[in-house]
Amino acid sequence: MSHNRNMVPSARKPLFRRTAMAAVTALVVAGSALSIFATTDATAANPYAGRQVYQNNCALCHKTGLNAAPKYGNKMAWEPRVSQGKEAMYNSAINGKGSMPPKGGHPKLTDEEVKTAVDYMVGAVGGWPDS
Ligand code: HEC
Repeated sequence: MSHNRNMVPSARKPLFRRTAMAAVTALVVAGSALSIFATTDATAANPYAGRQVYQNNCALCHKTGLNAAPKYGNKMAWEPRVSQGKEAMYNSAINGKGSMPPKGGHPKLTDEEVKTAVDYMVGAVGGWPDS
């Protein structure tokens, strides 16, 4: 009998632990699902997303002015281009122009990512007019 009494609490404990672990696992899974959604939202609204795309894919030419690329932050170089309007600029960046290959040579970038990088670079020279 004393053997039996010992078994009851020790049998309960692992069961409780398993339940607790399942709850923790469920929370972790729910949490990571939430953070995936949060990341997606952040990409659309996050002003740093464009900066990141720029640094990883555009800075090679646009930071230095390589191949006569308009340099980041150089108002004189960007103004006549910006005056073409947003859509024309996005179009050049996505499809290429002169010695700039489409998407800066990074075909894996989505159009949206390229646009955020254009916005980022234009933001550095005063942003889009009337917007
Ligand atoms: C291999 C070098 C190179 C890379 C990488 C590069 N560019 Fe360019 N980019 C250029 C050059 C050169 C020009 C000037 C093209 C011309 O006017 O003939 C240019 C021009 C532009 C323009 C102005 C287009 C216009 O209509 O006047 C935009 C916008 C632009 N780049 C965006 C980007 C974005 C966004 C990225 C990164 C996703 C990027 N570029 C990556 C070389 C590059």
